[in-house]
Amino acid sequence: MRKSEAGEKPKEKTLALTDSQRQLMEKFSRLYHRWYGEVTASLQQVLQERYYPRFEGGVVLDVGNGGTAPDVQLGAETARKVDRFIALDNSSAMLTRSGIFGNQILGDCMEIPLASDSVDYVLANNTLHHFGLGKGQDPMEKIGAFFREALRVSRKGLIINELVIPKVAELVERVILQAVGFMPVFVFSESFYRQTFQRLELNVAEYETKSLMDLISPFTVVPPILEYHWLRVPALVIPYSFAFFVIEKKATKDTHSS
Ligand SMILES: C[S@@+](CC[C@H](N)C(=O)[O-])C[C@H]1O[C@@H](n2cnc3c(N)ncnc32)[C@H](O)[C@@H]1O
Repeated sequence: MRKSEAGEKPKEKTLALTDSQRQLMEKFSRLYHRWYGEVTASLQQVLQERYYPRFEGGVVLDVGNGGTAPDVQLGAETARKVDRFIALDNSSAMLTRSGIFGNQILGDCMEIPLASDSVDYVLANNTLHHFGLGKGQDPMEKIGAFFREALRVSRKGLIINELVIPKVAELVERVILQAVGFMPVFVFSESFYRQTFQRLELNVAEYETKSLMDLISPFTVVPPILEYHWLRVPALVIPYSFAFFVIEKKATKDTHSS
């Protein structure tokens, strides 16, 4: 039965989500605002001041939207000035976390159900580390596949805000991955992203990083690992940073010109 006939919330059963990812997101949707609301609000402030003014009159697709309404993500002024804000997420629990605000798509950002060149910019805020990683998978291939798909639908490019960890912490995760076989959350280092940009020859026009303590007080207590949200420590001992990068779409070669 179709959603409109049943009047039910959309279900993710046709999406490529593992049970562990679905369960994690259902739990996350209840805890997200309480534990990560302050960090998210600081990140949104940086994005709204520096990156979002360019959206005026444009169509923006936010992948891994997590139920963030346009005025919260873009700020009230930019939200008024965009032509359209489309929210896409593969978790029904996350997508509808703050209700129905319109233009919400339950879908996978690895296969975006939109035509090529149909939006101006694609945003992804702390989405990439939720793709998960399996033992034996090439992480660059997985992240690269997302960049290619997002660049396909965008006319101008991507604005990514992503959690990064030190290289040594990523190596520890790789050891854990060998033991557990699949991790629903896998956070990469900055050097991983730099190598990925080089390998894929992406046009990274802007890049900056902020540490967790640039964003919140060092004494704010947060759970560094969502799965173990009972483990809470002050921000000053958490080695997290957030990278902001703008990937511009390269102009396609005009094969008809001489
Ligand atoms: C940490 S939350 C971030 C939510 C929001 N962007 C924010 O900054 O507050 C990550 C979101 O990405 C979504 N996500 C993960 N993998 C996805 C995929 N392949 N396609 C679409 N959404 C995905 C999750 O369901 C989750 O809502």
